[in-house]
Amino acid sequence: MTSTNAPANAKIIVAPSILSADLWRLGEQVQEAECAGADWIHVDVMDGHFVPNLSFGPSVVKCLRPHVQIPLDVHLMVRKPTDFIEAFAKAGADYLTVHIEAEDDIKKALLTIKNAGVKTGLSIKPDTDPARIKPFLDLLDLVLVMTVQPGFGGQGFLPHSPAQIRAVRGLIDASGKAVRLEVDGGINAQTAREAALAGADAFVAGSAIFAAPNPAEALRAIRQAATI
Ligand code: DX5
Ligand code: ZN
Repeated sequence: MTSTNAPANAKIIVAPSILSADLWRLGEQVQEAECAGADWIHVDVMDGHFVPNLSFGPSVVKCLRPHVQIPLDVHLMVRKPTDFIEAFAKAGADYLTVHIEAEDDIKKALLTIKNAGVKTGLSIKPDTDPARIKPFLDLLDLVLVMTVQPGFGGQGFLPHSPAQIRAVRGLIDASGKAVRLEVDGGINAQTAREAALAGADAFVAGSAIFAAPNPAEALRAIRQAATI
């Protein structure tokens, strides 16, 4: 019997977010993260509408793909994400996560991802009711709980995040499905542990890894803290 909400025996995933990488040295930094034991590379896609910022498109995924051995975890912070699924699938995304707040027909979006041979993710913003994911759990490989308001790196982990994570963990466990629970925003060694205790098993970190003096060490510290 465990006193936490953590899933039994799940391998911890650490996914550095290239939003905080030095783009002049993107390839080098991604390779450094991979050598340090990163499990996935997280790619944040922003459209200036769903979130008030712009970032990467499919061409960045396409450039990384031949050089990266680990999965590319693509987080679509865009309105009407279904329109972009084919382009990101072709570019080589392994996971495609859409926001439940960004699309009217979530089922269609998830089926489009599945039919493209890509793993499916569904994300909720910090103030979205976690119960909204329930009808889609059968179609999901991953739920992404945002632990900051999406749009920018370097923000602080929101204090009510553990409650959101626990609620999602409860829904996943009740479904009996093997669905990853990923957290994103303000993740460092301390908050990774809080999130892990609440039931997260995949951890995105941007500034805590790429703005650290030693990114490899920062990545290992997050993994160690999240291993409970
Ligand atoms: C924010 C993005 C995150 C971002 C996290 O909207 O989804 O993936 O890169 O950055 P940090 O870890 O610095 O909060
Ligand atoms: Zn992200």
